Amino acid sequence: MKRKAIYPGSFDPPTNGHLDLIQRGSKIFDELVVAVLGNPEKDPLFSVADRRKMLEAMTADFDNVSVDTFDGLTVEYALRVGASAVLRGIRAISDYEYELQMALMNRKLQPGLETVFMMPAEKYSYLSSRLVREVAQLGGSIDCLVPSLVAQKLREKMDVADKFAVDLAASREAEATAVSKTKPRKKKS
Ligand code: PNS
Repeated sequence: MKRKAIYPGSFDPPTNGHLDLIQRGSKIFDELVVAVLGNPEKDPLFSVADRRKMLEAMTADFDNVSVDTFDGLTVEYALRVGASAVLRGIRAISDYEYELQMALMNRKLQPGLETVFMMPAEKYSYLSSRLVREVAQLGGSIDCLVPSLVAQKLREKMDVADKFAVDLAASREAEATAVSKTKPRKKKS
């Protein structure tokens, strides 16, 4: 029987830590599906389609890795695609509590589905998508944290955001000037 697993996550954006885990997972499973959650509750930086494209490019060299998107429960998605395991990464002990809770809830929902935890390389143990977003938004270098195509996409996002901020400031200034010019002056008494 083929050992098929899903690796679910937000991947907003995918990092070198995710890639490291995909590499490790692809060695122990016959088939690995990287599953991007389309979570409408969060306000993501990248659309699900963008995240999928980035992950597809990052994993193009792995024959047994594919990328998909899903909504709803992870266990239901796993069942739908015929996976028998969920792969998750644990970087530090602080991840463990949340991951354990999730793994046990998934087991409650679907007892036949196993969660497999793997550790990324130590050099990625501090790395998270949230920190990458923050560093990129504040103008720091993210080159060693994400694959180059992701770094490029992040820079494009930040350029668009910067341009938007500059345009917004300019239009507010123009508006304020126009208002002050049209305001009637007080008559001298
Ligand atoms: O990369 P993330 O954000 O840590 O991934 C979390 C994810 C997507 C694995 C988790 O939020 C999830 O499984 N969401 C789908 C909804 C679900 O199944 N919820 C119950 C989990 S116990």
